[in-house]
Amino acid sequence: MEFVKTADGSKTLFHEQIGEHYHSKHGAQQESIHVFLNTGLRYWLEKNVAKNASILEIGFGTGLNFLLTADYCAKNLIGLNYVGIEAFPLSNELVSQSEYNQYISEDIWKDFLLNYTEALNSKIKLTDNIHLEIAHQKVMEFNSLEQFDVIYFDAFAEIHQPEMWTPETLAHVTQFLKPNGVFVTYAITGNLKRAMKALGFSIEKAPGAPGKREMLRATKL
Ligand SMILES: C[S@@+](CC[C@H](N)C(=O)[O-])C[C@H]1O[C@@H](n2cnc3c(N)ncnc32)[C@H](O)[C@@H]1O
Repeated sequence: MEFVKTADGSKTLFHEQIGEHYHSKHGAQQESIHVFLNTGLRYWLEKNVAKNASILEIGFGTGLNFLLTADYCAKNLIGLNYVGIEAFPLSNELVSQSEYNQYISEDIWKDFLLNYTEALNSKIKLTDNIHLEIAHQKVMEFNSLEQFDVIYFDAFAEIHQPEMWTPETLAHVTQFLKPNGVFVTYAITGNLKRAMKALGFSIEKAPGAPGKREMLRATKL
């Protein structure tokens, strides 16, 4: 795989077999900031007046969501515990070609590349306030004693990977969310809304990232 440019100048990968990009082609960085950082984490931090947050991401991929989140947390003195689930981790070499260093501090970028391979085996301390673990597993095999404040659900689209969006998969991942925890994803469909409601979530349509009218934010009651 090779990185290609999206409309905001930031890069993404194209997955040939799946037939989809890892991020929105309207702007990878824009999408990540809007959907996950702003509509997910920052919303939860404001609601809970919190100084620490734990995040579970489904589909860690290039690490863009983690990097922008870690950078925000470092700059705002927020403690971050981040677990990304990834069935098919990218090589360290490919990850280092994203050029995402231009959106974050030099330290976060350096520490990320230095610890990426190790994070695939165990939880690592990136800085005093930032911990990262990449669970090298398929989502349905993931298990944890931890409970999280925010879920970043960043699977490939339902049309390409329907098994990631079934009520069973959504029930599996949301069991790791704390009460009042927030689940965000870039998409919103009737099936997704029904499944999340059935799981006892309060659901909201939030404005979508450029190129998408709406996205889903769901709060665990
Ligand atoms: C849309 S991409 C994620 C993009 C990523 N968040 C980023 O910032 O680069 C979807 C990711 O889900 C991963 N994936 C596919 N099937 C999976 C499964 N069954 N369990 C866990 N991860 C899976 C893919 O390998 C890919 O990295």
